[in-house]
Amino acid sequence: MLKCTQTWTLVIATLALSCLISAKILISKVDYESNPNYLTMNVQVHNETEGSTVDVDGMLYVDVYQGIHINIDIDSKMDGEYMTMIGTSKELCSKEESGIDPVVPLLNEELEKFGNLSFGCPYYKGLYRMRRFRMSNDHMLVKMVPPGEYVLKMDLKHQQENDTKMAHVYKLSFFFEIS
Ligand SMILES: *[C@@H]1O[C@H](CO)[C@@H](O)[C@H](O)[C@H]1NC(C)=O
Ligand SMILES: *[C@@H]1O[C@H](CO)[C@@H](O)[C@H](O)[C@H]1NC(C)=O
Ligand SMILES: *[C@@H]1O[C@H](CO)[C@@H](O)[C@H](O)[C@H]1NC(C)=O
Repeated sequence: MLKCTQTWTLVIATLALSCLISAKILISKVDYESNPNYLTMNVQVHNETEGSTVDVDGMLYVDVYQGIHINIDIDSKMDGEYMTMIGTSKELCSKEESGIDPVVPLLNEELEKFGNLSFGCPYYKGLYRMRRFRMSNDHMLVKMVPPGEYVLKMDLKHQQENDTKMAHVYKLSFFFEIS
């Protein structure tokens, strides 16, 4: 009886372990564009054994201290089409805790571990750099989504004081697969 339980424990542990080891995030494509009035940007993806990592270099030409809006979408591929699974936006300079969506702060916390390109306010002109960014397989955001194909879209916009229109600052789309 005891033996049987032990065997099962071992089987379950082995299964759990093999799932953990095989869970991987591979980035197949990155699309990015930036507004040259604000910044220039360069993005590079590396495929490493534990999954993809991302390097970003950005050069910001102006100080931005109000009206920064970030939009984050995670789309999931179903029947060949991408459908929005999570869509959220935030005014980064606003002190108010807008809504209860945890995606922006959770992602920000991860970004901060790999450099100084995070969702902050204000942004001062200068160099921003992120090196070997990766989402850990056991991060809540990764565990929340089942294996499949996804795209993570970040869209940062700026609204000048007294201006009704928003200017694009940068747009970044990561196409990735969780296996
Ligand atoms: C990384 O791997 C993915 C999936 O195999 C592939 O589509 C992509 O082109 C690779 N990227 C690089 C930079 O090698
Ligand atoms: C961001 O980090 C890079 C590399 O460490 C550094 O050279 C740069 O000055 C930092 N930028 C800002 C705005 O603090
Ligand atoms: C925006 O409008 C206010 C009120 O009309 C004015 O005091 C302020 O100088 C304006 N700011 C800019 C950047 O034009």
